[in-house]
Amino acid sequence: MAQITDQISLAVAALNRGELVAMPTETVYGLAADAGNEDAVAKVFALKGRPATNPLIVHVADSHWIRDWAAEVGASAEALMAAFWPGPLTLVLPAKAEVSRAVTAGQDTVALRMPAHPQALALLKDFGRALVAPSANKYMSISPTSSNHVARQFADDELLILEGGNCEVGLESTIVALLPGDEPRLLRPGMVSVASIEAVLGRPLAQQSGGVVAPGQHHKHYSPGLPCYRYGAASDVSHLHRETDIGWIFCGNATPVAGKAIELGADPDSYAQGLYDALYQLDHGTLSAIYIAEPPHSGDWQAVQNRLERAAKPL
Ligand code: TXA
Ligand code: MG
Repeated sequence: MAQITDQISLAVAALNRGELVAMPTETVYGLAADAGNEDAVAKVFALKGRPATNPLIVHVADSHWIRDWAAEVGASAEALMAAFWPGPLTLVLPAKAEVSRAVTAGQDTVALRMPAHPQALALLKDFGRALVAPSANKYMSISPTSSNHVARQFADDELLILEGGNCEVGLESTIVALLPGDEPRLLRPGMVSVASIEAVLGRPLAQQSGGVVAPGQHHKHYSPGLPCYRYGAASDVSHLHRETDIGWIFCGNATPVAGKAIELGADPDSYAQGLYDALYQLDHGTLSAIYIAEPPHSGDWQAVQNRLERAAKPL
């Protein structure tokens, strides 16, 4: 059974034994393991049920730590780290030859991030070395934003969960690749926006996937178990408002409905913070489907829209 603790020393001891620890971060909870221990890294893939072709993000407590992992750290990487670390931005850089290909899924690049969460930083500092940490959910299900979500995902497994409260950002980090021979490229949108990255780089961020891909960004991902639909202003769903077995997620003003309604904030930051918790709340019990009223499509909503496209079918 999964066990929740607020003691960093217990978590460090588990990591030193090559075990996994669920680690809170500002984005989502991660399933952490010693990045330098191949047996521990293998346990991450096994416990998540994740294919070995999907690489892991290496988490550090200090930007100097990336010198052990990245073969080249250019001016763009330095500028983005200075602007956004600690924070929800992951950089994909050329990997040193000695980096385990179990971590990078056989690629010669490595993803690096310094999380902005006091418990994560304390854990990393006390452990003293980098930690791999994919989101702490079973493969293809929703990323957890509270210790209870993690406990639900791993109810039948032995796992120590470090308590860190509710994640402030609520969506997985923005991923940017900075690789020789390619322009800076967005691999996954997140709450560090394209506009704010372009402002630091002083040049546009390529967005279509070119030579580089982010393995594991399957179209269907982050999905709840129930059928889940999203609808825009043009869809009339009023005939469903009286059904008692439908869960709803509204953006701002909730429509009165007979089912279970959750109202998320009308700005992208508060909507993002609450989205996965809303899906966890609706995705069990007696409901038979989830309907999500689409939020706006403007630039600030890019990460939210990306996750909704993966979680829900359009009506
Ligand atoms: O916010 C986050 O990034 C969270 C927290 C725990 O830090 N972690 C997270 O990890 O979302 P995960 O494993 O669910 O997603 C990592 C994604 C992979 O699916 C892959 O698309 C991309 O990062 N990735 C990792 N290494 C890469 C590499 N070398 N090249 C391209 N993409 C990579
Ligand atoms: Mg994930």
